[in-house]
Amino acid sequence: MSIKNIEAIRMDFPVLHQKVHGKPWVYLDNAASGQKPLPVINAISEYYLKYHSNVHRGVHYMSQLATDKFEAARKTVQHFLNAEHDHEIIWTTGTTEGINLVAATYGRKFLKEGDEILITGMEHHANIVPWQMLCEEKGCVLRVVPVLENGTLDMASFYELFSDKTRFLSVVHVSNALGTLNPVKEMIKHAHSKNIPVLLDGAQSSCHFAIDVQDLDCDFFVFSGHKVFGPTGIGVLYGKTEYLEKMPPYKGGGEMIETVTFEKTTYAGLPFKFEAGTPDIANAIGLAAAMDYIHSIGWDVMEAQEKFLLEYATEEILKIGGIKLYGTSPEKCSVLSFLIEGIHPYDTGTILDKMGIAVRTGHHCAQPLMGRFCIPGTVRASFAFYNTKEEVDALISGLKRIKTMFL
Ligand code: ALA
Repeated sequence: MSIKNIEAIRMDFPVLHQKVHGKPWVYLDNAASGQKPLPVINAISEYYLKYHSNVHRGVHYMSQLATDKFEAARKTVQHFLNAEHDHEIIWTTGTTEGINLVAATYGRKFLKEGDEILITGMEHHANIVPWQMLCEEKGCVLRVVPVLENGTLDMASFYELFSDKTRFLSVVHVSNALGTLNPVKEMIKHAHSKNIPVLLDGAQSSCHFAIDVQDLDCDFFVFSGHKVFGPTGIGVLYGKTEYLEKMPPYKGGGEMIETVTFEKTTYAGLPFKFEAGTPDIANAIGLAAAMDYIHSIGWDVMEAQEKFLLEYATEEILKIGGIKLYGTSPEKCSVLSFLIEGIHPYDTGTILDKMGIAVRTGHHCAQPLMGRFCIPGTVRASFAFYNTKEEVDALISGLKRIKTMFL
C-alpha cells in the first residue's frame, strides 16, 4: 500500500514540482542526496533573516539566541540517534569527514604497525581511503570481508578474518550501491567480544529507518545531513564518551581550546574539542529541522512507502526481461541497482534524463565493489518516501523504450 496523503507530503518539497526537458521531473537519485522540505529551507532562512550571529562567543542577545538554537540542534540529533549524551554528538561536514576524523585521531593514536583494520567489500570510497591512508602512514594492514553474489556479506569470512592483530572494524550499515542492509548488530557483538571498536557508516541507513546507537552498541556512527533531507555541508559523528575522551583533537583553532599560551595549549572538553572554528550554524539548525520533519511524517509511514516502492519496482523491472539486478539481499533498502544487458549504464542514464528521470549511473564511489561484479558501474534508482507509484511506472516505461532503441 502506498501512502494516502503522498500529494500533501510532496507539497512540502517545491523542488519536485518542476519539468526537466519538458517532462515532469522524476527524482530517483535519493541515495546521492535527499530533497529538502520547506521547514528545512525556512529554518535556514530564518536564522539568516532574524538572528544570525556567531555562537559561543557573544554576550549579546542574538549570539545567545543563535547559541541556544545551535545547541538545541545538537540535542535534536542526540534524540534522533538515541545517544546517551549530547556531548557525544560532534558536528562534521558529513560522513566522509566523520570517518577521516576517527581514522586520523583514534587511528593515529592507538593503531601501530602490523595492526589490522577490517572493512567490507561493499564500502564506498569514504570508508576505504581514510583507512588506506592510515595504513600507509602507520604500516597497518587493511582486511576486507568479501561480498557474495547476491550482494550480502560473506559472514563466514567475516568471522575468519578476525585475528589477534585486528584492532578496528569499520562497516557500512546500508550499501549505497546495492541497498544491502548488513547484519551490523551481529558484527558489533562479535567485535566487542574481542574488545575491538566499531564504526558504523550510516550515510545510507539514517535516511531510511530510526537509528538507536545505544541498541546497536556501535562505538562510532557517522552520517551526512543532506541524505536525511537536511542541508549539504553538515554531518554528524557520534562517538561513545569513553572513546571521544581519549582521542586527540582533529583540527586546531578557536573554540576547541581551554587555554592557549605560546608554550602550551590545553583543549576544551567534549564536544568542543573536535569543533575548531566557527561551526556551520545555519546548517546545524537546518538539520535539526529535517529531523523534526521526519518525526512529523513518522518513520513507519516513510518505511511503508519505501518498502512498497522497492517491491513494486523490483517486480516490474524483472518483468521487462534482459535486466540484471545487483544487490538482491532479502534485507535491503530503497535501492534498485541494475544493468540492461548490452547497454552501457551511462547510455541508460542519459536517455532516462532526457525523459525527465534522474538516476545515478557509474561506480557510485564504490569502485572495488564494481570490480567484484566485473562491471564498470550500474544504473541506480533510489527511492525516498515522497516518490510515487507513478514515478516508478515512468522509470519502467522509460527502460522499456530504451531497450527497444538499442536492441
Ligand atoms: N555516496 C553518494 C551516492 O551513493 C554520493 O550517490
